[in-house]
Amino acid sequence: MADDLQRCVLVTGGAGFIGSHVVRHFIRRYPHYRIINYDKLTYAGSLSNLADVQDAPNYSFVHGDICDLDTLRFLLRERGINAIIHLAAESHVDRSIQTPLLFAHTNVIGTLSLLQAACECWDGQWEGKRFLHVSTDEVYGSLKPGDSPFNETTAYSPHSPYSASKASSDHFVKAYHDTYGLPVVLTNCSNNYGPYQFPEKLIPLSICNICNNRPIPIYGNGQNVRDWLYVEDHACAIDEVFHRGRDGASYNIGGVNEWKNIDLVKLLIRLVDEQLGRPIGSSERLITYVADRAGHDIRYAIDAGKIQRELGWKPRRSFESGLRDTVKWYLEHTEWVQEVTHGVYEPYDVEKYNRS
Ligand code: NAD
Ligand code: TYD
Repeated sequence: MADDLQRCVLVTGGAGFIGSHVVRHFIRRYPHYRIINYDKLTYAGSLSNLADVQDAPNYSFVHGDICDLDTLRFLLRERGINAIIHLAAESHVDRSIQTPLLFAHTNVIGTLSLLQAACECWDGQWEGKRFLHVSTDEVYGSLKPGDSPFNETTAYSPHSPYSASKASSDHFVKAYHDTYGLPVVLTNCSNNYGPYQFPEKLIPLSICNICNNRPIPIYGNGQNVRDWLYVEDHACAIDEVFHRGRDGASYNIGGVNEWKNIDLVKLLIRLVDEQLGRPIGSSERLITYVADRAGHDIRYAIDAGKIQRELGWKPRRSFESGLRDTVKWYLEHTEWVQEVTHGVYEPYDVEKYNRS
């Protein structure tokens, strides 16, 4: 898909963590595109994530729900939307264990509503249209140490309500391609980190707790492994797949950067202690082992060879540098942390989980 077209791109979930980086990337890189951010502004979405670009002439915000089919139909027709980058979702595994129905509703029914609206409004006029679905490597399930990383042919085997809902949404995206011909492309990415991530996920939660001398909860034995990618590298990958990905194809995206949770937390402690001028490693006393997450996947790892071979994408940011900047960002943005956590967020109750 050429980037000189007059594009009107609907980005769903643009007020969330990854969505805000994608919106910013597209606004700046493609000033001739119109970018519409469609977001319900749940606890995880905040317009302050986009304060620096909110007045850009090619940007607008629409407050809405991806489950609202009538509004989606109206918006797609009225604004002449010819491309969709779909990120809106409930995204936190721990919350999915508490509220699985909400995850099914948002991630499955929401995605299905968006597919249906696109299908009806584009009505077989597929030329120049594109639906990019942003998904996760968690759909592939869990690896053991020594297993080969996930590639695009790995069978889906989700375990958590979150990953099951994302797997289901992926299947619907592929079904709309295969059944109706909707021009779709999918991405399955590993764990992201960087500025504007809601401080309930491991990296921002740990940074905030170290700063505030609060316990850092480590689920189980801390040996679970995740592959980490800097969020701006993910935004660049989405850009490549959006413009040059093959119709109907999936692309795995990852950082080739596997870390055991406990080693990652110790690295964060070193970086935060250093930036706060504390004796390096002194915050290790905050590490608190708690009951394991139910169904906790042991290891995720991505083979990102396909996107590198076909589209030339690879991660640019080193982990050391990305993590250092992320720590600095959270230390400098304590007001943002207070704002987004105010009222809606109950910090993890370490005592409660230790009792369970
Ligand atoms: P996030 O939780 O930070 O943001 C989600 C956004 O979606 C929020 O702005 C929220 O307000 C919005 N939203 C939720 N329900 C909505 C609804 N019904 N209608 C409209 N908007 C709604 O999530 P994130 O971490 O930025 O993840 C974005 C996408 O990327 C998700 O689809 C997620 O599955 C996928 N993903 C995330 C990661 C990661 O590490 N965070 C990795 C791979 C894939
Ligand atoms: P998380 O950031 O929630 O991402 P995901 O579950 O999607 O991979 O968790 C990353 C890893 O860190 C995961 O193995 C669970 C673990 N974890 C903790 O040990 N303590 C915590 O407080 C959190 C939030 C996560």
